[in-house]
Amino acid sequence: MDQKIIKFPDNFTWGAATSSHQIEGGLVNDWSEWEKSEKRIKALKRQNKNPDDFISGKACNSYELFDEDLKCIKELNLKAYRFSIDWSRVEPEKGVFSEEGMNYYKSVVKKLKENGVEPFVTIWHWPVPLWLKEEGGWEAKNIVKYFTALTEKMVSELEGVTFWITLNEPNIYTLNSYITGKWPPQKKNIFSCLRVYHKLIRAHKAAYAVIKKINPFAQVGIAAHNNFFEAYNNRLVNNIFKGLADWGWNFYFLNKIKNHQDFIGLNHYFHNRINYGFNKNDNELVSDMGWELYPEAIFHCLQDLRKYGKPVYITENGLADREDKYRPWFINESLKNVYKAIQLGVDVRGYFYWSMLDNFEWAAGWDPKFGLYSVDRKTFKRTPRSSAKLYSEICKNNEVIAE
Ligand code: NOJ
Repeated sequence: MDQKIIKFPDNFTWGAATSSHQIEGGLVNDWSEWEKSEKRIKALKRQNKNPDDFISGKACNSYELFDEDLKCIKELNLKAYRFSIDWSRVEPEKGVFSEEGMNYYKSVVKKLKENGVEPFVTIWHWPVPLWLKEEGGWEAKNIVKYFTALTEKMVSELEGVTFWITLNEPNIYTLNSYITGKWPPQKKNIFSCLRVYHKLIRAHKAAYAVIKKINPFAQVGIAAHNNFFEAYNNRLVNNIFKGLADWGWNFYFLNKIKNHQDFIGLNHYFHNRINYGFNKNDNELVSDMGWELYPEAIFHCLQDLRKYGKPVYITENGLADREDKYRPWFINESLKNVYKAIQLGVDVRGYFYWSMLDNFEWAAGWDPKFGLYSVDRKTFKRTPRSSAKLYSEICKNNEVIAE
């Protein structure tokens, strides 16, 4: 049988992504404290869940075992690796930066560069240090100043980093932390949510200016969590809801920062068919988390970003699939859709699979398995799933086998 091969553009950036709180271990921040809090433990017990399965603890122990991660990065033939800074590790006390914490990230960057892997560094991927939590977290009066100082420190000291992602998924963070109350600080207050959202916008703009001042060649963006919203049918009401969802969820933040970014990072997971304001998906296939697997959705999200006229990096895309049943198919199909968008003129420069390792999936704890590698919870041994082999071939050959 003839194989149809899709060649990606030269220099396409193949990567995988992680975040500090989800893999490093040993952190002391608002999340680590919340995970162990009485309120949280009681809530989990009420749901007959074992609180130990919801504590990040040593996580994947990447703080001590980055060399093991590096082996995976090399085995996967990655050209780039996305990781994040944990704010509490580098600034455990207000205004006091920890040399040990800084050295950890410096060594990560150095090892990546020595191995020809481009670091994509996320400055903030959700948790905040305890001193900042005490001041109100993202509601703190001086939060923009604090975030700018953190950015300035990281950019001046992490030499050789070109790609900076200031913020990860501001919409998901504000939704879960300030509306649904699923995440710390568990507020359910629309005003707090809007306040924080606008502080995040200001923080990004300020950080953008600081980064460009220190390194005019830096490439700066956010990782935006965008969904493919589709009207369930042709009813006007559903089209109106689709338009509102696009505006509020997908584009509001990006519109506000459109003149303060060099690329757009797209984190993509969801397809939502909207019927009278509610989701009505077919859900023919779902991941272990019950999220619909619909690889065409990424094509539409990419098309929608074309209007910004900026390069796009898919900074996250993946699924929870413990048995690796759908992952190989999902990766292939998603990449076919990425390629289709490229052919139609969207300037997609790279793709980062989420995630390289099974890791701590926030309020869902340790159960969801997003990794190309599984990680033993006791020995921390990383073991490739079969999709790791597939992805390593894709990264090596810069091509996807379409049929
Ligand atoms: C996006 C987030 O950035 C990441 O932290 C999370 O684990 C994945 N989505 C999967 O939910």
